Amino acid sequence: MDVDPEKVRALKRGEMPFYEPHLAEVVADAGQNLKFTTEYSEAIPQAHVIFIAVGTPPGQNGNPDLRYLESAARSIGENLGSHFTVIVNKSTVPIGSGVWVDSLLRDAFERNGSRGGFAVASNPEFLREGSALHDSLYPDRVVIGTAETTTAEVLYTLYRPILEQSFVAPRYLPRPEGLQAAPLISTDLASAELIKYAANAFLSLKISYINEIGILAEKVGADIAQVAKGIGLDARIGTRFLQAGIGWGGSCFGKDTAALAATASDYGLDMPIVKAAREVNSRQRQRVLEKLLSELHTLKGRTIGVLGLAFKPNTDDLRDAPAVDVAKRLIERGARVKAHDPIAMERFRKENPNSEVICCSTAEEVAVGADALVLATEWPQYRDLNWEQVGSTMRSAIILDARLALDRARITRAGFRYAGLAERTKGAVMKERDVSAATISG
Ligand code: UGA
Repeated sequence: MDVDPEKVRALKRGEMPFYEPHLAEVVADAGQNLKFTTEYSEAIPQAHVIFIAVGTPPGQNGNPDLRYLESAARSIGENLGSHFTVIVNKSTVPIGSGVWVDSLLRDAFERNGSRGGFAVASNPEFLREGSALHDSLYPDRVVIGTAETTTAEVLYTLYRPILEQSFVAPRYLPRPEGLQAAPLISTDLASAELIKYAANAFLSLKISYINEIGILAEKVGADIAQVAKGIGLDARIGTRFLQAGIGWGGSCFGKDTAALAATASDYGLDMPIVKAAREVNSRQRQRVLEKLLSELHTLKGRTIGVLGLAFKPNTDDLRDAPAVDVAKRLIERGARVKAHDPIAMERFRKENPNSEVICCSTAEEVAVGADALVLATEWPQYRDLNWEQVGSTMRSAIILDARLALDRARITRAGFRYAGLAERTKGAVMKERDVSAATISG
């Protein structure tokens, strides 16, 4: 059920409202088991479990805007059936929202005079855009937060095929080898809500940490990719989310770290670690401009080609996309910006009708006449461009690999001057005294 009639009409025609690998196949496979409507009165009364998955966009002072959640909760309360219903908060909501949603539902429910009863649970979402279906079917864990045993049992029954991995895997989403079960964390409401924020903030910290180390790596002549691997293979640290580059974007990390700090401040607490991760992340975007400036000496009048606009590959989501932010900052500094994205181009045009960014239909077209290219989103197809040909059409063959995703040796062979965001500076060595200090302390 969605209040947007256009979205519902498109879904009924089998058209997906956004790009996500395999989503159309899953919807088609569901057949008559999946129906779309704009009416609460059609979707709610028969339901035994209701998932609230409305958007919670950034609001004021770091707090998310909860008006869609409020409206959904009231409308659900007004339409509940005469049996016991479990209402699950899937949307990322501030800690304590479960209690608030319960009170909104109760008001509407009592006015409605229904008899069935209901309970609210939190079931935070951990899927990543671009691999959403894989993450949903084969999760690292399922978290259920509720004060009541009956509610926990209803959700356990619902999730059982995933927890026990007993469902037949779709042919296009095979089960990872060796996966036999997914762990369940059954806890109280507040803990489930905090798990969601603490997980996203921790992943954000990992990215900012490796980006901070990347800046030092550049100075001391170390290779950040090797450093990330070297620390990540320690099982206590883990190799994932240690890819250095332009920093995180998307609808979650920025919003959720801000919300976590805002919640803490409501309780009179500071969150210096989370705040530092946010600062480091915003600095990475500025570093793209600084790097370009040091290559080109001025940005005014230069033509910069941006490869990739989406906040990450395999999605057309542009929310808080580092590429879009960098393009905007370049234009503010007087540069001409040409851009390409394999999937997000159309959405970019629609969402930014007045943007001065010149939209190109191929990566090759972006390069024509450019003073430098910036790899802003690591779509796999950019790795295999014909770099000799791409470079030959540029005014100067310079590439800033802001995702550290390109094959530096190959690109350099193609005649490019390669710059990375954490580039190993040629000839950079530890200062003599630092070496001896390190030896002594080691
Ligand atoms: C993130 C979390 O990973 C999910 O677990 C969570 O469910 C989701 O937010 C959410 O709260 O809804 P998502 O934002 O879709 O998922 O994508 P990620 O794969 O986490 O990437 C976020 C950003 O970090 C991207 O811009 C990506 O390029 C960047 N990133 C990621 C890095 O810069 N380095 C890395 O090593 C990993």
